[in-house]
Amino acid sequence: MRLTMTVVLVMNSSAAAPALCYQVSPGSSITGRIRVPGDKSISHRAVILGALASGSVAVTGLLEGEDVKATIAAFRAMGVVIEGPVAGGVTIHGVGLHGLQASAEVLDLGNSGTAMRLFSGVLVGQSFRSELDGDASLRRRPMRRITEPLSAMGARIEATTGTPPLHITPVSGLHGIDYVMPVASAQVKSALLLAGLYAQGQTRVRELAPTRDHTERMLRGFGVKLSVAAGKVAVQPAQRLHPVNLAVPADLSSAAFFLVAASLAGGSNLLLESVGVNPTRCGVLTILQSMGARITRLHEHQVCGEPVADLAVSAAPLQATDIDAEAVALAIDELPVLCIAAAMASGTTRIHGAGELRHKECDRIAAMVAGLQSLGIEIHEHRDGMTIVGGRLQGGQVDSFGDHRIAMAFAVAGHLAQGPVQVRGCENVATSFPGFVEIACQTGFVIEPYRI
Ligand code: S3P
Repeated sequence: MRLTMTVVLVMNSSAAAPALCYQVSPGSSITGRIRVPGDKSISHRAVILGALASGSVAVTGLLEGEDVKATIAAFRAMGVVIEGPVAGGVTIHGVGLHGLQASAEVLDLGNSGTAMRLFSGVLVGQSFRSELDGDASLRRRPMRRITEPLSAMGARIEATTGTPPLHITPVSGLHGIDYVMPVASAQVKSALLLAGLYAQGQTRVRELAPTRDHTERMLRGFGVKLSVAAGKVAVQPAQRLHPVNLAVPADLSSAAFFLVAASLAGGSNLLLESVGVNPTRCGVLTILQSMGARITRLHEHQVCGEPVADLAVSAAPLQATDIDAEAVALAIDELPVLCIAAAMASGTTRIHGAGELRHKECDRIAAMVAGLQSLGIEIHEHRDGMTIVGGRLQGGQVDSFGDHRIAMAFAVAGHLAQGPVQVRGCENVATSFPGFVEIACQTGFVIEPYRI
């Protein structure tokens, strides 16, 4: 095992917490066998549906990232007893669909857009007021995409400026709607389906491009009546959620950093265990394979309604590709690291229909363009995408803008670059991937975290 980690603590005199940075040195092959932490999307939903179930739900493999911890803390503040997490295990003593209590405090959802939007769907159905807030990044994220359709269901939910904080006031009842989503968003779809549990009549959501369907799969597992057809999902109001135990697969979005690094670092051979390979998440595999990546699925099976497989990846030359809006929706969180693959591929990669990237934890188009330019790559920014000319990554300094996925994408760039890369603003890596540096170093990365 190769483990290179030096923690250098240089405190500055200002009161603000020192920023966490990574110094990433160029490395060689990526090898071994790893299991990345649990899927973030599925972990949030496990806690939410577990809390609303009529009885106790044991979850294994839960992501113990900051985002999911914020979800757990918020349900505790609403009276739900949750044991753990210990080594990915939690037991949630569900209080039933109508058993939540008003929180004495504002619900602080940290950095998590998923929590903010899914909670909104649940809380508009409650008989108490709620206020939802988050960190500076979450306070910049658009919320009209949920406040408008939830209001059309009869909810009272306000975001004065269209961004958090959100204020929810109880209403006497919600009613189902038939909603065509103007953006491809699983968070919006999920918020409406969760509100639909509390509404009179059917709630139907139509999507222009397929988005992740974990909510649909998990609701079914909890006994909710749901009809799913191409581009349409409809939910009936529920009396109760039947408690079921859950096992969370490893997160394909976290695995993606290693899939790209191992594809591009010569001589690599890596096995990623028990990764979720839900077809609505597999865009990253399809795109990498279309670029020439050697990725094989082994031991495919289902766990709690979700497809899971081990992924074997070995180094292969990559060629440029075109990524369109439908492919974007299936790989939305993996696009930052796919930009690194494009920067090292032969030829010019074009990404279109990716305007949603501007509304993530940071503006991910602007962040990738700035970072790749400073590492010597020719990249052109468009309103809804990028054109990336494959070349050689140089060493240099990049800013993650506090975005976990940008930070890890540039850690991959650092491994593949000709010289060391310093990545600034890595404190939020723990929102989705606690232990990233340790796991990366096990596979052959050379990352030294330090603070400035
Ligand atoms: C998520 C959906 C995606 C994704 C996010 C998690 C979810 O957001 O970017 O990290 O768990 O539903 P959108 O569906 O809003 O694009």
